[in-house]
Amino acid sequence: MRTAEWVWEIRTEFPALSREIEGKVPVFLDGPGGSQVPRRVLEAMAAAMIEASANTHGAFPTSRRLDALIAEARQAAADLVGASPEEIVFGPNMTTLTFHISRAIGRILRPGDEIVVTRLDHDANVAPWLALEERGAVIRWVDFHPEDGTLDLEGLARALSERTRLVAVGYASNALGTVNPVRRIVEMAHAVGAWVYVDAVHAAPHLFIDVQELECDFLVCSAYKFFGPHVGFLYGRADRLTALRPYKVRPAPDQPPEAFETGTQNHEGLAGLIAAVDYLADLGRRFGNPINPSQRAAIRAAMERIREHERALCARLLEGLEEIPSVTVYGIRTMERWSERVPTLSFRAKKWDPREIATALGQKGIYVWDGNFYALGVTERLGLEGQGGLVRVGALHYNTLEEVNRFLETLHRLLSRK
Ligand SMILES: Cc1ncc(COP(=O)(O)O)c(C=O)c1O
Repeated sequence: MRTAEWVWEIRTEFPALSREIEGKVPVFLDGPGGSQVPRRVLEAMAAAMIEASANTHGAFPTSRRLDALIAEARQAAADLVGASPEEIVFGPNMTTLTFHISRAIGRILRPGDEIVVTRLDHDANVAPWLALEERGAVIRWVDFHPEDGTLDLEGLARALSERTRLVAVGYASNALGTVNPVRRIVEMAHAVGAWVYVDAVHAAPHLFIDVQELECDFLVCSAYKFFGPHVGFLYGRADRLTALRPYKVRPAPDQPPEAFETGTQNHEGLAGLIAAVDYLADLGRRFGNPINPSQRAAIRAAMERIREHERALCARLLEGLEEIPSVTVYGIRTMERWSERVPTLSFRAKKWDPREIATALGQKGIYVWDGNFYALGVTERLGLEGQGGLVRVGALHYNTLEEVNRFLETLHRLLSRK
């Protein structure tokens, strides 16, 4: 099987993908920690710093240009997740936005109110809710099935009650690649009157996100995971945002979404976010086949193409890792269940510490992550916390089958040394 032609074409837009580092062109399988960016993102950021280097709501052209840029960025983020621009709040990253919202939610909690968190989540969707124990909140934990990395939905049903105010859940696991049935989880939570806060950071580069279809109350993303710069955004259903009173400085606007944005934003980052969403929409227009597509339809077409290619990458990764007897893959291991995962795979190898493997691969120009990736509940539950955690291989759409094969051959050779 060969890599689709369009993948080679889009790779030329990413300067980092062809750059030699220490004498080798790297294989970037570190995407779950942060993606590489297309040239247009870099150019948009530079242009913003030349053309819109001002602050907001001023009486002169560079400030007006900045106001327009922020409005455009809100529209771009809204297009990506299927929201309205007034429902988009910007912030430095997912973690900071989540602490900010959890503090605002803390103001309306009563002692004994319950919040549900999961062991499958990144700690950024756990710790901000644990912090509300200070306000008298009671935390209920939902486990995952260690054998395949899927969430324990029966456990979730047991954790829910009329005291539940919020369920914090991930869309896709950054450690095991599991895609959670978010729509179903929202139905379960809403049935008891609880809100749902979705961490879509790991899902965004892989899946078409639709907050209307999911019917979630909040959803958070980070642009540096989907080919943009280091900025985050939050979708908050309009009535949910107006129900909250964020911590803010007094002269700042009172109304959402601006009321939730503390201080001066990363304006050049927002310019990069617009370009990253444009990149995806263009990919859909060029290589999908939508007729006269809106930006949203073009993004959907892109994500369909991406998903198709990532399926091939994941199949090869699973097949290749399975062939190495000393390797144990955690999470879903069969392509028959592709609809329940993204191509993020974590494994261990007998006699090897994950850091040793990542270091040896790194020396060969193959970049993978090791450790807990802040998905602390996962490594703890699997008994791997304090044991070096996992090695994580994360494919993104710019990766090729040839790169996956290079990784597999190098790993095979390396592991046969012990
Ligand atoms: C699933 C998931 N959630 C949250 C985060 C934290 O995102 P940020 O760095 O934007 O705070 C990450 C980052 O790795 C992640 O993978």
